[in-house]
Order: sequence, then structure tokens, then C-alpha cells
Amino acid sequence: MSGKLIEAAIEARAKAHAPYSDFLVGCAVESEDGEIAQGANMENGCYRLGVCAEQSALAAAQVAFGLGKVARIVVVGGPRHAKDGEAGEAVMPCGGCRQAIQEAASLSGRDIEIVCCDHAGGNAVTTTIGALLPAAFVFDKD
Ligand code: THU
Repeated sequence: MSGKLIEAAIEARAKAHAPYSDFLVGCAVESEDGEIAQGANMENGCYRLGVCAEQSALAAAQVAFGLGKVARIVVVGGPRHAKDGEAGEAVMPCGGCRQAIQEAASLSGRDIEIVCCDHAGGNAVTTTIGALLPAAFVFDKD
């Protein structure tokens, strides 16, 4: 796992718009060719309209290199007040984000690695979308 991808997620987290929860999340998505797209959570005064960091990053990845090329995802998150030097809990993607990541995996037919970290990229939990969302719903048009 490249430190570069964790750094990109930390950089994105600094741009989160989370004035309501004060919980800042950043996400970096890497393509199979090593390209990187970033996203951060974006909340709204109408709470239910908030967007998670993972979905924000996937939208950027879609435009940058295509969802079907997504190979690896790093998520970092924690409270606004969390300090660089202190450890926190790894942030695991919510259910909706798991389904959004599954969409990318369905396109490529390959599993996607997901590294979940605290606000500073520590306490990493490395997993895959296959492990986080077994028996996923996949829309089959035929
Ligand atoms: N959040 C994410 O960005 N990703 C997740 O997977 C879980 C939660 C955001 C949504 C909201 O802005 C804040 O964290 C608190 O729930």
C-alpha cells in the first residue's frame, strides 16, 4: 500500500465540509494504472443531502479514469479536534458507500482493496469490498 494514497486521503480530509457533525472524512481512490482521485464528505444544512467522502471520491474517479479501473481505496476520518499525534479509530465505510464501491467492482469484475484509517492515516484496517459487502445486490438488466 502506497503512503502516497494515504497522504492523498489526508489531504482531501482537510477539505471536508462538515460543519454539522464536525467529523471529517477524506478518501483517495487509486486506479489500476496508479492514477489518484480524491473526495471528502460534504454536508448540507438539509442534513439528509450530505455526501460521504467515498461517494465524493468515486464521482471524481469516474470522471478522471472511469469506475471500472478502481483498484484501491483509502479512507481516513475522525473528529475535527483530533490531533496529528493522537491515535483514533479507523473509519469504516457506511453501508451506502459499500454499495457505491461495489458498483465499481461489478464493472471490473475484480475485488477492490479498502484501507480504513483514523484521521492521521493510523490504525489501518485493510479489507476488500467483497469482505465488507458479501452477497451484494448487483443489478442485472438481462
Ligand atoms: N461519513 C463519510 O464520509 N463516510 C462514511 O463512510 C461514514 C460517514 C461522513 C458523513 C457525515 O458527513 C459524517 O461522516 C458523520 O457521519
